Amino acid sequence: MTRLVSPPQTLRGDVSLPGDKSIAHRSLMLNAMAKGTAHVTNFPKGADTLSTLRCLQTLGIQFDVQPGENDSLAIDVHGEGMDGFTEPSDVLDAGNSGTTMRLISGLLAGLPFYSVLTGDDSLRNRPMGRIVEPLSQMGAHISGRQQNNYAPLSIFGGTLKPIDYVLPVASAQVKSAVLIAGLNTNGRTTIHSPSPSRDHTELMLAAMGVPIVSEYGTKIQVDPKEPRAVNVEIPGDISSAAPWIVAGLIHPNAQITVRNVGVNPTRTGILDVLQRMGGTIELLNKRMQGGEEVADITSQSSDLRGTEIAGDIISILADELPLLALAGTVATGKTIIRDAQELRVKESDRIKTTVTGLSNLGAKIEEHDDGMVVYGGHVPKGGSGTSSGDHRIAILLAIAGLTGSGDTSIDDEEAVSISYPSFWDDVDRLSGRTTN
Ligand code: S3P
Repeated sequence: MTRLVSPPQTLRGDVSLPGDKSIAHRSLMLNAMAKGTAHVTNFPKGADTLSTLRCLQTLGIQFDVQPGENDSLAIDVHGEGMDGFTEPSDVLDAGNSGTTMRLISGLLAGLPFYSVLTGDDSLRNRPMGRIVEPLSQMGAHISGRQQNNYAPLSIFGGTLKPIDYVLPVASAQVKSAVLIAGLNTNGRTTIHSPSPSRDHTELMLAAMGVPIVSEYGTKIQVDPKEPRAVNVEIPGDISSAAPWIVAGLIHPNAQITVRNVGVNPTRTGILDVLQRMGGTIELLNKRMQGGEEVADITSQSSDLRGTEIAGDIISILADELPLLALAGTVATGKTIIRDAQELRVKESDRIKTTVTGLSNLGAKIEEHDDGMVVYGGHVPKGGSGTSSGDHRIAILLAIAGLTGSGDTSIDDEEAVSISYPSFWDDVDRLSGRTTN
């Protein structure tokens, strides 16, 4: 469907976000591998996290799912250790979710049965060789299309051996797949990452009593152990906060507070960059919640200057780069994004979809192999665009529409439901078009 977004005079208010998608996937998968019942709250209803729930149900895991607060779910996970998984009688469908497919592959690698994993058109065209390679080295039998590079994947797992593995790219999904497989070996698994990536798997496994050590986020070691069930209260997703933080900074008359946001340092690269660009951002009420740091974040209209975003920081803000490019359009000077070739293998080729999407709205932005160059002072002035089925691009275009100078129509707007089903309600509320 198509959605029309008009820039409001003011953009003000509070937002309660859906629970963190990355933590949500892990809360179900890791507790499914434990023995005992874990209570998971603030579980987001996005399509991706529901894909993980459904795949685990198809693998025989029992869940009690109840409505939770703030349009979330409260889920009891009844894990029975690795014996609780049974051979699925049907194909496992990960939908649009790379995290579901890659992390569940790590789990299936250690299970002595046959399963097939597939996904939607986007996911079947995303690289899976990166997990097939290490999991095969560990002893799992995995095949996929085009020399084992693409789903559908068929997996026959079993007893695994530990490996010492150098990740070719700093991917949290690949790291997590290997760590999860590492729980079902008879020795120490070591992973070397070129730069740190989100560490939710490491934090949750540590909370579950698994011996796991991380040196600077670039050398991670895990010893095999059955995780202990832990309750997880999922914090708000900083990747869903990001559109509101950016909107608060670049709209000329804005003040927005996003509540209860996870601010794990492996996720807050976007805050560092926006502050470096001159953004007025405040973190209030900092606290710990279930092993993760949480805060309320306020942003308000600011004059931004261009910056360069490259090197190690890329792997801790990759999902937010389209929004940082948008921030660059209103800044003074150039914003240069480099070393971000991984954007090309996300739910869409996000270098292309960001450049095309923002250019169509009047921004001046160049595509490069590994990033983009944004020329500031060319504020989006409205027009039309498509999400290309990518939730982060739908949200990017909506924020460009709210902060630009004319109306913006967005095709395939329902893509937001992958990570943020209530996004359009929040757009209406913060624009002052609805009151509740
Ligand atoms: C995720 C890791 C990131 C991110 C994705 C979620 C995760 O991908 O882009 O949206 O939950 O582990 P990488 O595997 O490229 O780090």
